[in-house]
Amino acid sequence: MTDMDDLSIREAKLDDCMQIVKVHISDINDWLDAHNEFTARYKSLDVTERWMRGGPWMSIETCAIHINNFILKEYKAYVAVLNEKIVGEIEVIPEHEPDPYNKNLYIYVFWIHKNFRGRGIGSNILSHISKFARNLNLNSVITYPEEGSMNFYIKNGFKMLEKYVQIKLLPYDRRIDDVSIEEVPIKTLENIDTSRYYFIIGRYGSSSSMLFNIRDDRFFLPKVNFKYKVYQIAWQDYKAYLVIRKSNIMKPSLYTWIKCDTLSRRIVNIIVKVAAYLANREGLKEIHTCIREDFIAFLNKEFVKIIDGKDIYYYKRQLI
Ligand SMILES: CC(C)(COP(=O)(O)OP(=O)(O)OC[C@H]1O[C@@H](n2cnc3c(N)ncnc32)[C@H](O)[C@@H]1OP(=O)(O)O)[C@@H](O)C(=O)NCCC(=O)NCCS
Repeated sequence: MTDMDDLSIREAKLDDCMQIVKVHISDINDWLDAHNEFTARYKSLDVTERWMRGGPWMSIETCAIHINNFILKEYKAYVAVLNEKIVGEIEVIPEHEPDPYNKNLYIYVFWIHKNFRGRGIGSNILSHISKFARNLNLNSVITYPEEGSMNFYIKNGFKMLEKYVQIKLLPYDRRIDDVSIEEVPIKTLENIDTSRYYFIIGRYGSSSSMLFNIRDDRFFLPKVNFKYKVYQIAWQDYKAYLVIRKSNIMKPSLYTWIKCDTLSRRIVNIIVKVAAYLANREGLKEIHTCIREDFIAFLNKEFVKIIDGKDIYYYKRQLI
């Protein structure tokens, strides 16, 4: 009997949070000792300091809030259990977006404990969630892989789908004719039907995953202090939501959802111009975001600058 005979994959629960954290921090030197216990170094950091290193999975407190929010949305979190120990965790969101995404299962996060990689556990979890996706009649599994995991996904049948480039917008002081801009409460984002809105600016995750981050996955971290401003934009038959996130310690960032039949350069240009105009109105020196690579060449260089930063790739595995 091999190790893998004892591997099982089941839905995560709040009781699992301590072990889930240990999986996610297993790469960070000095945070776990040789017995997989939290070190003095880990204990000396506060929740915010750990969160800034890698998000809610870095502390039990934030992990529990996050897993709770995630499961309450009816999204799925699974753990891989080997000999009664949690060795991996995956979180997935059923998505429906305009093409080329369509109906897919989006991998929000996926981590195998450092000491248990390369034994087939990750591939096993992928088969498990692919089965789940097929049962929901979804067409594909999509992810935005960490740099070091590309080969793993390619081996498992994933192919590159789209590339996003990081940019910054500088303030632009001219109002755009015929465009109405209205600030609306954050809960207005609940009206977004993700199957009809293109999410191509600020796509640091799938459409629902970013809406989840903005609307639902909130943490009390005064040092970070995220503040969102939501604007509803309308012109002709088009509609868009534009979200600016401000923080005490991070650069302002931008996310937009655009409703139209087909995306065109003209529409994307207008939205980017509106965002730069809002940066000016809000007194922001710059706003960071990312945009689909093929639009870059057509944006106004006066207020759009490419910044040094990792490109973002989406990978897709078609399900048959
Ligand atoms: C990527 C990851 C989930 C794969 O899980 P896994 O259990 O190691 O994967 P498997 O054993 O099923 O497949 C191993 C293959 O993945 C690749 N791989 C990628 N990163 C690896 C790593 N750190 N260690 C071992 N294999 C790795 C190798 O190509 C390997 O193929 P090989 O055995 O023929 O050499 C896991 O390595 C991991 O958690 N990495 C760090 C976090 C991460 O990148 N997560 C993905 C975020 S989207």
